Amino acid sequence: MIQPNESTGSRLPSVIKFFSEDVAEFKRQLAQLESEIDKDAIPQRNDDFHKRTQAAFQQSQDACREFEQTHEANPDLIKEVQARFREETMPWFSQSWIGNRARTKPSGFAGDYEMLVKLYEEETPARGLGAYIDLCISELPLANAVRGRKDLVREFLENEINSREGDLRILDIACGPCREFLDWPEFAGRNIEVIAMDNDPVALEYIEATVASQLPPSTKLTPVRYNAMRARNSEATKKNFGTFDIIYSVGLADYLTDEHLIGIFAGLGDSLNENGALVIAFKDTDRYDETPYQWHLDWFFYQRTVEDVLNVYENAGFNTQKMKLTRDRTGIIVNYDSRRADDCIRRIDLAETPRSSRSGIKPRIGKNGAAIES
Ligand SMILES: C[S@@+](CC[C@H](N)C(=O)[O-])C[C@H]1O[C@@H](n2cnc3c(N)ncnc32)[C@H](O)[C@@H]1O
Repeated sequence: MIQPNESTGSRLPSVIKFFSEDVAEFKRQLAQLESEIDKDAIPQRNDDFHKRTQAAFQQSQDACREFEQTHEANPDLIKEVQARFREETMPWFSQSWIGNRARTKPSGFAGDYEMLVKLYEEETPARGLGAYIDLCISELPLANAVRGRKDLVREFLENEINSREGDLRILDIACGPCREFLDWPEFAGRNIEVIAMDNDPVALEYIEATVASQLPPSTKLTPVRYNAMRARNSEATKKNFGTFDIIYSVGLADYLTDEHLIGIFAGLGDSLNENGALVIAFKDTDRYDETPYQWHLDWFFYQRTVEDVLNVYENAGFNTQKMKLTRDRTGIIVNYDSRRADDCIRRIDLAETPRSSRSGIKPRIGKNGAAIES
């Protein structure tokens, strides 16, 4: 007998097998680990508990990936099974600081500034099994890529500032915790002005207290609450903040639809000074497996290849032949670097762009979607 909220999907033999064998085995291993690990334990890398948690997590990822591949044609079923999978594993994943935050999203989406700080610092307030799960999540390819892209953007900023002369204006869109500005060098005799923009007021308070106050005299960083969607309107950006030599954004673009990105890129291109640089980071979907983020963490973003991203830029009026692409040390993150110079960015009037070319690209978005709307 089907329960009121239960769809027929849950009676499919493959679904019954997935939950009664694969998920049951994962739960058994988690329960066993929980019974053995002291609830106050601080995890030791490479100890027996760490290795066993890793192995259980990996085995579960393999099973989830296989289920998803088998049912590729039925996204609604995958979504339903993912939700039930998370419900069944909640008793253990709720003990993990990262797992719990990603699943409950207290700031509205998983990648908020506090999550980023935990991934950068590789420290967790959790203890016991939850802390071991956090350790395993911190070792996932995308966690390494998050740290890699922060170092890549820091390197880009220093090189760019050193290759230019005089005062500079920088705009950081969706700045989160602004960790790339920690231990920031002095650029003697120059004025580096940074507008750090985010729509999360708590992130801005963190920056004020932790980052802005530690900068050397040549750099002034001002946290500003502003919705990135408003950057589509370059007149408003220029009126509110002026124009910039460097505009960059790391960690936001993967959550936005093509249509939003096209508008934002066109607006930002128009907010640059002559020779200004626009750098946006994207994850390359061909370089990682999204399974643990989507199944275990409920953390979704648009899955784009390099070609998908270049198409977005083309539709925003950028000459992609002139763009420079740089990867972080993991190879997963690509920084797309464009310049406001002859033949690099064509002014387009989005209102006149045919709708089909504004949203013609279909990125492989995770089944739950993830875009942050204006
Ligand atoms: C993944 S974090 C990246 C933070 C930072 N750039 C970094 O790499 O550490 C994404 C940030 O985007 C911010 N954000 C999300 N939607 C936004 C919007 N519409 N406007 C401005 N900021 C936004 C969030 O508050 C969060 O701080």
